[in-house]
Amino acid sequence: MKTDELINTATALMAGDKGLLAMDESTGTCNKRFEEAGIPTTIEYRRAYRELIVTTPNFGDCISGAILYDETIYQSTKKGVLFIDALKKAGIIPGIKVDEGTVNMANFPGEKITEGLDGLRQRLEKYYDLGARFAKWRAVITIGEDTPTKANIEANMHLLARYAALCQENGIVPIVEPEVLMDGDHNLKKCQKVTEKALKMLFKQLEKQRVDLRGLILKPNMILPGTKSEKQASVDKVAKATVGTLLKCVPPSVPGIAFLSGGQSPELASAHLNAMHVKYKGKLPWALTFSFARAIQEPAMNAWKGLDKNVKVAQKLLYKRASLDNAARRGEYTP
Ligand code: 13P
Repeated sequence: MKTDELINTATALMAGDKGLLAMDESTGTCNKRFEEAGIPTTIEYRRAYRELIVTTPNFGDCISGAILYDETIYQSTKKGVLFIDALKKAGIIPGIKVDEGTVNMANFPGEKITEGLDGLRQRLEKYYDLGARFAKWRAVITIGEDTPTKANIEANMHLLARYAALCQENGIVPIVEPEVLMDGDHNLKKCQKVTEKALKMLFKQLEKQRVDLRGLILKPNMILPGTKSEKQASVDKVAKATVGTLLKCVPPSVPGIAFLSGGQSPELASAHLNAMHVKYKGKLPWALTFSFARAIQEPAMNAWKGLDKNVKVAQKLLYKRASLDNAARRGEYTP
């Protein structure tokens, strides 16, 4: 195993006050977001949008790594520079989403399982040759009346561990993402209990598969009440519940934790990260940062509207959101 390389990549991804940008929306998800923003859902618009992101001036000041998707890893700017090369030139480490999305889990109504292990070893070799140095796999845990089941959590975490082992074999740092969804009317306590179960099972499975925790990054959800819950929680309560759960479940040998935003507004996602740093400054065994998609991209996508004349404004908004998340990582964010 290329242990030193893995540790170096993980350390670089967590450096300073930087964080990750998830720009790995599948074609379906990207089109859905485009439709909501009134942008045509063609391959050329998706390419143009990703060009806007990777050419954002000085983006490497704020972003340590960007997660691409299979479609985008082969794409180039209008001038013919591969996105992956544009990122490297900006000092941003290229990563790649390698799961193939979720499907219904047989015999477990309402629960999802992630696909993508078949042929993964070969895909990872190819992505490494192209320049990707880290990867992402997302598992989805759904809170409902009778869910999640233990079987669903176990199957999803087993897959995450098998994926992580294959990544490390190929010199690629695995981001392991067990996302407990915000959908539903459950309260914060329920989210906390389910997240704790998922994380405990995840680290059990990682150990079984002999994954080296020093060369891995965890991408969890924050602990939040469901979006339809009548009782929303204060920023401080979310920060305390989230860090408390992570301290219980995540071994100190893990170098970094980078949150997904999960549908929170950009402002709230930043405020939560900020509160965690204000409250726990100097007391955490791992680096704590962001790996947001929507919470960084949303204002920029809405401003772009698919029009060339809006590119500069959209890039400014991307930079602004990312630098506000840097401030949050320093505990210095003000909305
Ligand atoms: P959001 O920040 O929009 O939740 O996306 C993060 C991500 O990468 C989901 O897999």
